[in-house]
Amino acid sequence: MSKHIGAQLLEFSQKGDERGHLVIVEGMQDIPFDIKRIFYIYGSAPNVVRGQHANRRSEFLLINVAGTCKVKVKDGRGNEAVFSLNRPHTGIYLPQMIWKDMYDFSEDSVLLCLSSEHYDPEEYIRDYNEFVNMVADEDK
Ligand code: TYD
Repeated sequence: MSKHIGAQLLEFSQKGDERGHLVIVEGMQDIPFDIKRIFYIYGSAPNVVRGQHANRRSEFLLINVAGTCKVKVKDGRGNEAVFSLNRPHTGIYLPQMIWKDMYDFSEDSVLLCLSSEHYDPEEYIRDYNEFVNMVADEDK
């Protein structure tokens, strides 16, 4: 498990047998939150950048259940890291208040997103400068 600015790459166990693979992600067991929402992203062209926001309250777990993409995370304090999602049993955990960009989607990419919160557009921060200012206020 590697750790970067609060984001963590998580490996889930594969329950494979001769019939194929099965990966389990249980809330509060394999990831540090209960799952209230799932959504998934597919059909994004390779030149598309998605995300481009931070969340005040939502935590996320992102898994490329098919295909690949990259996730760049920033903490608003000048630190950033890039993760490659390329295996269906590997996910990236994103705590609250992390800026994320998803990009470099393969044609077959299906990016599954698990979230700790129901959708609330009010808790999305979509302006990077506003995010940096909020982080600076938190650090005071
Ligand atoms: P958006 O946040 O732009 O997607 P991403 O960050 O993954 O690139 O969401 C796209 C649209 O879907 C936008 O109109 C908001 C809506 N949406 C919901 O209604 N509920 C949700 O849980 C999510 C993630 C998005």
